[in-house]
Amino acid sequence: SVSKAISLNITHCFPAELPSNPITDNHCCPSKPSFSNLIDFKDFASPNATLRVRKPFHMLDEQYIAKFEKGIALMKALPQDDPRSFIQQAKVHCAYCNGAYHLEPPFQDTKFDIHVSWFFFPFHRWYMYFFERILGNLIGDPDFALPFWNWDSAEGMQMPSCFTDHNSSLYNQLRHQKHLPPHVVDLNYHLDDSYVPSQQQVSYNLGTMYKQMVLASTTELFMGSPFRLGDNNPHPGMGSVEVAPHNTLHSWIGGADTPHHEDMGTFYTAARDPIFYVHHANMDRMWAIWKTLGEGRRDYSDEDWLDSEFYFYDENADFVRVKVRDCVDTKKLGYVYQDVDLPWLRTPP
Ligand code: C2O
Repeated sequence: SVSKAISLNITHCFPAELPSNPITDNHCCPSKPSFSNLIDFKDFASPNATLRVRKPFHMLDEQYIAKFEKGIALMKALPQDDPRSFIQQAKVHCAYCNGAYHLEPPFQDTKFDIHVSWFFFPFHRWYMYFFERILGNLIGDPDFALPFWNWDSAEGMQMPSCFTDHNSSLYNQLRHQKHLPPHVVDLNYHLDDSYVPSQQQVSYNLGTMYKQMVLASTTELFMGSPFRLGDNNPHPGMGSVEVAPHNTLHSWIGGADTPHHEDMGTFYTAARDPIFYVHHANMDRMWAIWKTLGEGRRDYSDEDWLDSEFYFYDENADFVRVKVRDCVDTKKLGYVYQDVDLPWLRTPP
């Protein structure tokens, strides 16, 4: 049968489609890739290599946090057109969300978006993977592992305080000022700011986690719905965790006074906030955990999903083509998540 795996016409980046009154210009297209240097991903961790261990942010020591801050600061300090720079990395997200890439002919009228389909998890896994490599390279520690914001445990249920320090590279001005620490996150946030006492909010959150993780008992419920070459609607349906806590936390962090809750509350600016990357590390962890929760919890085995392709820059500023199939096992990419308690497993709503 003919493959309906997605491949993008990456040679052309169209102007992004932005909401009305965007707060920044609409240059979402990353610096022009050099196709002569296009490489196919093959950099798998050898089976004996030490794995990078991604740790919960609230358990990091000061030294580790300092390294992370330094990496982000160095990314921010690179020339704006360096594909490894912080702003270029943020543009990758905008381009892949806001319609800047179209599918290959004859489907060139279909605008691609990596959200609201089965591409949500693999795209963001690859994105965090290259971000981590770039960061590690800039700080001279290729084994550096991206921390994750452990918002599914009681200790992690507030914005890590380093992100609110004005002197930190992790700081971002455009956030909801009432949601700064020690305010407890609302994993089921719907832009309503009714106040719930902290203890109660924590237990609501654990109930939300149980529902989104444990009750998502099929691949489609968790991963989102298929989108293939030739389909008209690139938004066939979200997986459970993409709805919440993913989207809900984006809106919870985003500014209350910006028109579309920029930065985190809307796709075109979301990745301009450094907290995006620790939020997505935890999202990625949810994918890894879900697969261990029992029968029926497995990845799609559909070739159209496995053969679909995206493009990223690596730490050498080389342009790399990747396939979904090469990211389903984090160990092959050289990392794992630190095993921590999963309190929500014990809290059916
Ligand atoms: Cu691409 Cu958190 O979104």
